[in-house]
Amino acid sequence: MNCDEELKKIKDEVVALKTSPLYAERMKNKYFPVIGEGNHFAEVMFIGEAPGENEAKTGRPFCGRAGKVLDLLLANVGIERKNVYVTNIVKDRPPGNRDPYPDEIEIYAPFLDRQIKIIKPKVVATLGRFSMQYVMNRYGLEGELSSISALHGKVFSAKDFKVLPLYHPAAAIYNQHLLNTLKEDFKILKTII
Ligand code: URA
Repeated sequence: MNCDEELKKIKDEVVALKTSPLYAERMKNKYFPVIGEGNHFAEVMFIGEAPGENEAKTGRPFCGRAGKVLDLLLANVGIERKNVYVTNIVKDRPPGNRDPYPDEIEIYAPFLDRQIKIIKPKVVATLGRFSMQYVMNRYGLEGELSSISALHGKVFSAKDFKVLPLYHPAAAIYNQHLLNTLKEDFKILKTII
């Protein structure tokens, strides 16, 4: 199977994932799962938390207000969104935008691991603390784990890629200081790709 086919297989499996605790919510609200979007050979893969309402309504990651912030941050360092891959750990929307539960992360994370393996990014940029914690624990960086305020903008080397923890763009919607921090951290991203 080539890369496109393998990613399509992930999509089909998530669409059919009736065992997910979020499946009933998806059906009830006529939501779509959000698998991921972008370049299948991307050097940078962004990993958010879980789809928000706009994302679940369209099936596209980061297409709402947090997505606008992500677009701005990318544009600020001259990276085109079509050249990166954007996804989340949890592929269905948790009700009311609550934080994902551990069992939800557990059920969807293997899909994320497969996406990373297929796309083979040079840099995995985590957006927010949930994806930072998952990726660092999963890829041998658990000894370096600390708070996101301590780790954002620092580059870590996992076996096959670099990990750059970043604040979640949603946190910068009403916070100019965090937006400035994210802008600086995206400049770091630009230097490692
Ligand atoms: N927040 C996320 O973590 N992911 C999205 O896709 C949108 C908002």
